[in-house]
Amino acid sequence: IHIRFVHADQTEETITAATGQSLMKAAVDADIHGIEADCGGVLTCATCHVMIDSPWAEKLPKPVADETDMLDFAASPVEAGSRLSCQVRLTPELDGLVVRLPASQH
Ligand code: FES
Repeated sequence: IHIRFVHADQTEETITAATGQSLMKAAVDADIHGIEADCGGVLTCATCHVMIDSPWAEKLPKPVADETDMLDFAASPVEAGSRLSCQVRLTPELDGLVVRLPASQH
């Protein structure tokens, strides 16, 4: 599937990623700057914070409480579309997904 990343400075990068993995893993493998993922995806760092807006946000399962709790520790302001990308699993329906990156993860 194709995923478009929009950086805080509005520059964009599009990657092709396999389904079945997390959005964080796909971004890290593609060397997308702006996703740190210090904890490697076990929901203890909040440095994989991204914003996923409508209409994509509605296609995602709602965050579990642990993800919502951890978002409180994100370095950049949390918005309505804020998610931790290690908890977003890529599925075929997400082809064309647009992901906004925060200015900083620290
Ligand atoms: Fe650490 Fe997502 S990679 S919380």
